[in-house]
Amino acid sequence: MQDLQHCTVLREEAVDALLWRPDGIYIDGTFGRGGHSQLLLTRLGATARLVAFDKDPQALAAAQQITDPRFEIVHSSFAKLREEMAQRGIQQVAGVLLDLGVSSPQLDDAERGFSFQADGPLDMRMDPSRGESAAQWLARVTQAQLTEVIRDYGEERFAQQIAKAIVARRERLGPLTRTRELAEVVASAVKTREAGKNPATRTFQAIRIYVNQELEELEVALAAALALLEPGGRLVVISFHSLEDRKVKQFLKKHAQAPRLERRLPLRAADLPAPLLKLHARIRASAAEITENPRARSALMRSAERTAS
Ligand SMILES: C[S@@+](CC[C@H](N)C(=O)[O-])C[C@H]1O[C@@H](n2cnc3c(N)ncnc32)[C@H](O)[C@@H]1O
Repeated sequence: MQDLQHCTVLREEAVDALLWRPDGIYIDGTFGRGGHSQLLLTRLGATARLVAFDKDPQALAAAQQITDPRFEIVHSSFAKLREEMAQRGIQQVAGVLLDLGVSSPQLDDAERGFSFQADGPLDMRMDPSRGESAAQWLARVTQAQLTEVIRDYGEERFAQQIAKAIVARRERLGPLTRTRELAEVVASAVKTREAGKNPATRTFQAIRIYVNQELEELEVALAAALALLEPGGRLVVISFHSLEDRKVKQFLKKHAQAPRLERRLPLRAADLPAPLLKLHARIRASAAEITENPRARSALMRSAERTAS
């Protein structure tokens, strides 16, 4: 395994937003290389607990180096938060952190197949031990479904042309197996270049989101987190692109409003059900952090607090 480091985004800010009860039970849904978890452990009390999740076997191996008895790593999707907590007899937690997307080690290791910059096998799974790789999916997908995925998850204007080029190339030369092959086919189909952006950026993002079911799992995890939070508990989510952020924003907004009632119900204002969440201000990385870590530029952190209702 290469020793690749992840540069944690909004490290202090996320931990400050999450930690309010030093003896609570916390969840880090995206351990990565543990930047947030490690800082949290330095601030938590002796009786606290931190349960971390990651799908990636390499993240799991990194987490297993932590010998702190308050810490536990679970090799699972954060979509399984509720089941995993139930198995541990945990009904409520003080905070849930989700730092979404891929880690720098995943992007920088060409063998993982996430990068269009370095050639590698076309994999893109966060957990290569489960499910279908990008190459396997691209070998069987229809042009119509591929167009839809590239359009919806990549917000790519040339989705149709790209899907057509991928299917034509597959029919002519056999399935695509390398990231460079995919990047070249995409580049040949994209007619207008976006300044400073590789033409394959949007397509790679789309395929990665699809292969890892990122948006579906995020939706499940947000609902599970809300159900697990104790009154005062915090939900902190860092997202890196508009599709993720839209899901988070809509979810938080929905639960920060009082549930809708029949308009004519004879209730007094004081009897109306209160919202489940109180929103905190959203936060972006500082100019200093962005200079040090350009990936922080697109990060947006939203957080909220569970009310007592
Ligand atoms: C941005 S990194 C997190 C970095 C981490 N906060 C740190 O400071 O090192 C995202 C991590 O979440 C993991 N991940 C993404 N989606 C996941 C999911 N649905 N379930 C579990 N882990 C996931 C990825 O494998 C990756 O290691």
